[in-house]
Amino acid sequence: MAQLKAAVLISGRGSNLQALIEECTRADAEAEIVLVISNVAGAAGLTRAANAGIATEVIDHKAYESRESFEDALHHCLVGAGIELVCLAGFMRLLTEGFVRRWRDRLINIHPSLLPDYKGLDTHARVLADGVKATGCTVHFVRPAMDDGPIIVQARVPVMPGDDEDRLAARVLTAEHRCYPMALRLIAEGRVSVVNEQVAIDGAPAPAGLQLDAETLPD
Ligand code: GRF
Repeated sequence: MAQLKAAVLISGRGSNLQALIEECTRADAEAEIVLVISNVAGAAGLTRAANAGIATEVIDHKAYESRESFEDALHHCLVGAGIELVCLAGFMRLLTEGFVRRWRDRLINIHPSLLPDYKGLDTHARVLADGVKATGCTVHFVRPAMDDGPIIVQARVPVMPGDDEDRLAARVLTAEHRCYPMALRLIAEGRVSVVNEQVAIDGAPAPAGLQLDAETLPD
């Protein structure tokens, strides 16, 4: 069977991109990353893509008059490359309803919290300020509202005494690097569907997605 053609959209470091690249180098991978697009020239993730022999494009939002014209350029680039699934990985632009609708159920994102808690930026600072015992990360299908949409995979990560933002972010990032490849793999294997705005895995409804505990995540 042909591999699922995926694109990854980034704005920066690209550590989740790296995890997705590594997933796709597995002998039995059913997804292939054929394109990496950054809205920021010089994003470190572009070098990761180039090192892996993946085509890259820079589409700088500042060069466009409107969000819509920027997104038209993105859309045409994705369509031109035959992309079937778009993975947002630290892509720091909000996407309009029009773009999200065009890629409905073919557009996924990773967020460093247990959604629906702590949507938006500065999640780790807010988690620490609230004194909660656990946080995590979520891979979800994208809907027009920010950090909203059917959940595919979530991992719970403990908040430890003495954590600061950097320590907590690093612990969550390790879980992100497990969850995002897992979600890509499940989708590429055709095991994920969306029914009534909830994910089903292998046909079984999973209202909060595949629930994992970071301490027990497989390598
Ligand atoms: C990750 O924490 C991801 O959850 C968030 O942005 C960060 C991107 O990091 N959406 P990287 O560029 O993948 O290293």
